[in-house]
Amino acid sequence: MTLTPTRDDKFSFGLWTIGYNGADPFGGPTRPHLDVVEAVHKLAEIGAYGLTFHDDDLFAFGSSDAARQKEINRAKQAFADTGIIVPMITTNLFSAPVFKDGGFTSNDRAVRRFAIRKVLRNIDLAAELGATTFVMWGGREGAEYDAAKDIRGALERYREAVNLLGDYVTDKGYDIRFAIEPKPNEPRGDILLPTLGHALAFIETLERPELVGVNPETGHEQMAGLNFTAGIAQALYQGKLFHIDLNGQKGIKYDQDLVFGHGDLANAFSLVDLLENGGPDGGPSYDGPRHFDYKPSRTEDAVGVWDSAAANMRMYLLLKERAAAFRADPEVQEALASARVHEINEPTLSAGESYADLLADTASYETFDTDAYFGGKGFGFVRLNQLATEHILGAR
Ligand code: GCO
Ligand code: MN
Ligand code: MN
Repeated sequence: MTLTPTRDDKFSFGLWTIGYNGADPFGGPTRPHLDVVEAVHKLAEIGAYGLTFHDDDLFAFGSSDAARQKEINRAKQAFADTGIIVPMITTNLFSAPVFKDGGFTSNDRAVRRFAIRKVLRNIDLAAELGATTFVMWGGREGAEYDAAKDIRGALERYREAVNLLGDYVTDKGYDIRFAIEPKPNEPRGDILLPTLGHALAFIETLERPELVGVNPETGHEQMAGLNFTAGIAQALYQGKLFHIDLNGQKGIKYDQDLVFGHGDLANAFSLVDLLENGGPDGGPSYDGPRHFDYKPSRTEDAVGVWDSAAANMRMYLLLKERAAAFRADPEVQEALASARVHEINEPTLSAGESYADLLADTASYETFDTDAYFGGKGFGFVRLNQLATEHILGAR
């Protein structure tokens, strides 16, 4: 297996990731502005296939139509020159002061109307550039104070906005689906749709749920103390993994946006195994972009930016290689069987069996000797995890 990324690996990066200038709440930029044309050429050179961006990453908020078009044209030329595609586009509804209380769910109705207009304009751009996924990260949709936001009202406004966007792409005939990106907090004290589970439940309330899925981010679920791989498995199970933001995070703290695998490495391994192999029995997997939403640390210079971008892809490919070795290892296969991992896919009732049949099956209950059958026998999950860890370490 090669560790050199190719377009077939479908690695994509946000313009705001490689373009992050190092500014944080405690200090200004440590790096100069990165121009989109340079970014596109550099991405092509290191083996990525896609660039994603917010409207405001490409042209400044409030740009004149001419200035906006000029930047779009420059980017288009770079795409044409390199073959880099735009798999996903997203809208910035969080940086401009007008969005201080959110976009779709600002308490101010005029702001909400402006936010929807900004998104509609950006959807037209997505269609023009051939992007098929439109991400909605509602970083400012939330509150710091319980008394300041009627959550049910805010969810209703969120629904109203997403329903309208669904009507719009349908009427326009655009080949675009939406992906909601959950995050528990930051920049708001509490963000609406804070986890993957909240987002999946919300999607079912929409008028066109089939048009809307999720764009989960490694660090965001881990900021909520959740298991990212398990969440992704549920999103796949429900047919809702429309896009993914890969990065690294070390526990429950601020959003670190580290390089993929530089946080919880064991969970990154199980994630790549899931995305590539579809789980122990090869269930439905994911064939969309492997999108990195990381930030080159403030300590890095331009060389460090591109080294860290390459590190994301290399980590993914290394873990893919490790996952293949794990699945191919006969001892792992034997440990999986003795841990009865595959047996979860066997229905609990037989074909055509009813609850009446189950009630009539005395072996299932009346004569089921729990001590004799089960007593003392372990599953061997720890041995399995040790084998996985040894594969991660390259010890097998
Ligand atoms: C964050 C988010 C964003 C979104 C982006 C796309 O925590 O800042 O992850 O980077 O992914 O806005 O909508
Ligand atoms: Mn993030
Ligand atoms: Mn993200």
